[in-house]
Amino acid sequence: MEKIKMTTPLVEMDGDEMTRILWKMIKDELILPFVDLKTEYYDLGLPNRDKTSDKITVDAANAIKKYGVGVKCATITPNAQRMTEYNLKEMYKSPNGTIRSILDGTVFRTPITIPSIHPAVKFWKKPITIARHAYGDVYKSVEIVADEPGTAKLVFDGESGKHEEVVIQQFKGPGVLQGMHNTEKSIRSFAHSCFQYALSLKQSIWFATKDTISKKYDGRFRAIFEEVFQEYKDRFAEAGIEYFYTLIDDAVARVMRSEGGFIWACKNYDGDVMSDMVSTAFGSLAMMTSVLVSPDGNYEYEAAHGTVTRHYYKYLKGEETSTNPIATIFAWSGAFRKRGELDNLPELVAYADKLEAACLDTLNEGYATKDLVNLMEGITPTMLTSAQFLAEIRKHLEKSL
Ligand SMILES: NC(=O)c1ccc[n+]([C@@H]2O[C@H](COP(=O)([O-])OP(=O)(O)OC[C@H]3O[C@@H](n4cnc5c(N)ncnc54)[C@H](O)[C@@H]3O)[C@@H](O)[C@H]2O)c1
Repeated sequence: MEKIKMTTPLVEMDGDEMTRILWKMIKDELILPFVDLKTEYYDLGLPNRDKTSDKITVDAANAIKKYGVGVKCATITPNAQRMTEYNLKEMYKSPNGTIRSILDGTVFRTPITIPSIHPAVKFWKKPITIARHAYGDVYKSVEIVADEPGTAKLVFDGESGKHEEVVIQQFKGPGVLQGMHNTEKSIRSFAHSCFQYALSLKQSIWFATKDTISKKYDGRFRAIFEEVFQEYKDRFAEAGIEYFYTLIDDAVARVMRSEGGFIWACKNYDGDVMSDMVSTAFGSLAMMTSVLVSPDGNYEYEAAHGTVTRHYYKYLKGEETSTNPIATIFAWSGAFRKRGELDNLPELVAYADKLEAACLDTLNEGYATKDLVNLMEGITPTMLTSAQFLAEIRKHLEKSL
């Protein structure tokens, strides 16, 4: 068979530990035999980040800005233990954090569902994507423990000389207080990313805050979303999708009773909490995809999970592992599909669809990695090693290509 052509390179970001091993296996088994792969390769593995003093991460993020689509392997975020393990020059920041701050994006997380893994919520038939605002609020807050009676105030001193002051509380005894913020720029880019992603998936988007209580703070979020939506209104109507705003408590109740199949845009804290609830209720972290979408339309695909350290140490001892490659394969397929759409390459889009279908067919026949075997119902699963599982997916892919 002639290999499928690409015209623009994908920004390929290699990573660490077990996922780095899987990365190569996925390329060798499922990509290189079928696609005339064009990538611009960035090795974000921790040794190379250290060697380049993390310049490689910045270069990779800038390459995504240049080409528009990247695919990333999971990477270690160093801590004290990793400093010793890898003899690092410094404790580098999380690569995802660095890339996010350069692309200024929103993270969308979607569970990959199969009929034999039943969501904990019986009404859910289609995946629910969480869009989490990744800046500000309680994550950039300042706090004080007031240990005596006194007055707490919120003060704003404008550059123009304007002065605003409100009393938060007259404490009669000890208490706690917190100051948090967000910026119009960040909320606006969050809204753009959400509406663009909804259009690209052709799925409706829900957004919820508590603006009945937080009239100014949450009220600004609601107003900015409403204002930005005006730019997308006609395209939403054309695509047959809607933007739906409600209160966060109502949203939670509706999500529980829904069939799924929509995007749920959440403020930072809501997204933090709700994405764990949604991924757990749908099944497993190893079946969760993640894509960072920037307001100017750049896309970075990855798996939501980490580098699966425990499996890597087994691998280093020469033991076989049964590590789930699905979310990493879907990161590649997502990137190929987007590249295909942008470059008008229907064959590349079809390959991405077939690659995903081959994964799902393999799982639906009961072939699975260890993490999924206990979750499957209604079929007798066969547990495979990572290599056996990839070989099984390849068989399905070859048939469909
Ligand atoms: N996006 C990223 O690059 C990212 C995200 C999270 C953690 N990390 C890094 O990954 C390393 C390990 O972190 P962690 O243990 O908290 O997270 P992890 O996602 O690697 O593992 C969490 C748990 O889920 C299981 N698991 C995750 N993915 C799996 C898969 N594909 N197949 C089978 N089981 C799977 C693991 O065995 C473990 O029990 C850390 O160094 C951390 O910095 C990276």
